[in-house]
Amino acid sequence: MKRNISLDCDPGHDDAVAILLAGKNPNINLLGISVVAGNQTIQKTARNALNVATYLGINVPICIGCEFPMVRERVICAAIHGESGLDGFDFPNYGDRFDKRHGVQLIIDTVMNNDKVTIVATGPLTNVAMAIKMEPKILDKLDEIIIMGGSVDNGNTSPAAEFNIMCDPEAAHVVFSSGVTVRMVGLNVTRKVIVTDEVVNRMEKINNKASDMFVKLMKVFNENQRKTFGVAAGPLHDPATIASIIDSDLIKWQKMNVVIDISHGPSYGRTNCDVFDYLRAPHNAYVAMDIDVNKYWDIIEQGIRSY
Ligand code: RIB
Ligand code: CA
Repeated sequence: MKRNISLDCDPGHDDAVAILLAGKNPNINLLGISVVAGNQTIQKTARNALNVATYLGINVPICIGCEFPMVRERVICAAIHGESGLDGFDFPNYGDRFDKRHGVQLIIDTVMNNDKVTIVATGPLTNVAMAIKMEPKILDKLDEIIIMGGSVDNGNTSPAAEFNIMCDPEAAHVVFSSGVTVRMVGLNVTRKVIVTDEVVNRMEKINNKASDMFVKLMKVFNENQRKTFGVAAGPLHDPATIASIIDSDLIKWQKMNVVIDISHGPSYGRTNCDVFDYLRAPHNAYVAMDIDVNKYWDIIEQGIRSY
């Protein structure tokens, strides 16, 4: 049974691989891609999403979503993803092939017009939160929301906060308090899937159009990781959301209470994960606690080979 997916993203090198993974998998029916500002401005993340999907022959509606967070000022991440937001691969000029609906409207239409849609979000949650506010009926129709974001332990944008949540903590609060089943794939897990030179070389041997894009993007992604964090390679965060759908045994989940810190103090944007159930509060999210790393790279390889 194929899973109906509405993907919301901010490409972004790892978002690009999430699109690749979702585009041709027999277990996934990718219904649409909405784009949000995050790794770069909305104009750049939208262009990047269109480029990746068009280059790979993924023919779905692509809609431009929110340019700014709900409350706080906008943050972008040029240090890791570059000035274009997807430095490293020269795509042809595909012109303006965007679906004219707003990204928030695409999410609403996709959920309301299809059965049991899973929203997968690999960027800030602004579009998803705005969809919930604009059309609360989607909460009764959608299956679940799977996000790359947050962390059981420390952040990557402040000691407390992970980038996607930090970009729009109020949006994350709307999503986590919506009552919908949320699956949170956080840094505590994605920091285990480092796209090392060994992984890049493995994918380069596939020698098709998708591997060519993957290799060139990952080389720049890792160079920026080296410059920014002094590490040899970076975590390939976002595809873990899609991979968890492709193989339901990939990730070990624990249901627990998760609250977003929107207090504007030093922990602003933290995902407070009550792993030991201290508060006895409602368990509103499944939190990823471990990932089968070898199986993850097998899924990535299979995804690249499918083009
Ligand atoms: O913290 C990692 C997340 O922030 C990933 O989704 C990456 O693409 C950036 O958006
Ligand atoms: Ca992202």
